[in-house]
Amino acid sequence: QGKKVLFSGMQATGNLTLGNYLGALKNWVSLSDEYECFYSVVDMHSITVRQDPATLRKRARALLTLYLAAGIDPEKNCIYYQSHVSGHAELAWILNCFTYMGELNRMTQFKDKSAKHADNINAGLFTYPVLMAADILLFQADVVPVGIDQMQHLEITRDIAQRFNNIYGEVFTVPEAYIGKVGAKIMSLQEPTKKMSKSDENPNASIYLMDDADTILRKCKRAVTDSEGAIRYREEQPGVRNLIDIYSACTGKTPEETVGEFEGKGYGVFKEAVGEAVVSVLRPLQEEVRRLEKDKTYLDEIIKNNGEKAGYFANKTLRKVQKKVGF
Ligand code: ADP
Ligand code: NA
Repeated sequence: QGKKVLFSGMQATGNLTLGNYLGALKNWVSLSDEYECFYSVVDMHSITVRQDPATLRKRARALLTLYLAAGIDPEKNCIYYQSHVSGHAELAWILNCFTYMGELNRMTQFKDKSAKHADNINAGLFTYPVLMAADILLFQADVVPVGIDQMQHLEITRDIAQRFNNIYGEVFTVPEAYIGKVGAKIMSLQEPTKKMSKSDENPNASIYLMDDADTILRKCKRAVTDSEGAIRYREEQPGVRNLIDIYSACTGKTPEETVGEFEGKGYGVFKEAVGEAVVSVLRPLQEEVRRLEKDKTYLDEIIKNNGEKAGYFANKTLRKVQKKVGF
């Protein structure tokens, strides 16, 4: 019966980069035909780090707009704010009581984040993986597309689900990592051994999805390469390799085809072509974002009805769980 369920979410912290698009969002769009997808703007996760309320609200809406602009159909899928569905918090509390301190202590992301935000090591930062488990289990998701950095969190989700099921019977679907065509991993334009990230402090390191054409061309032109002078796809040339990945992802070519196309050409010519390829991919996306932004009524309507739809599915699971634990 029906399609398999897929859950994923993104945080509305910082401006989304080309890495977020080519590595995640673009794939979300293709997956949305095959699966029943719940794509959340996970704003509850965002407040584990201090946020300016007006900025968070603005970015959350921009992110949701981007999901739509990228081509995810809100009639066939569910695009919603995590904070609009109270089941996330309610299930997270229950799951907290089925999660061990020791397990959470082993999460490497907590270690990294608490080092980075040493002035605010709050309990939410520590129990973040439990909220993530609740996000996934609430919709009985079969699959979750995750990057390597989130693999540990999916593992703990599976452990919590199995633990709960062992006690109470088959309540939760135990989710699998989505394996299949993974998106390109895009690296920083300035330090190509580091991934491109919306939290990078150097604005030249990332192409932001709403950057204008001149900015994109300039950033590509200034991308760090090497002194080899040859366009080859190999680890020893991480900057060039990254530009090949970007160009290939934007044009649908393989890295080998890209290398062939630019054989014997200089870095200047190649960088310009990369910039133009990025512009051609982002321009229609940006136009669609602008069009949607103007249609406030439509956006509000999607936010409302998709939030209700998510709430409906969430409540089904939540009621089952509540009954099991004795509420
Ligand atoms: P960021 O590091 O930009 O804050 P997140 O960790 O919030 O990104 O990730 C959001 C989604 O985007 C995840 O699915 C992640 O795998 C993907 N993603 C983030 N950066 C990149 C990148 N540089 N290349 C490919 N995918 C990326
Ligand atoms: Na779908």
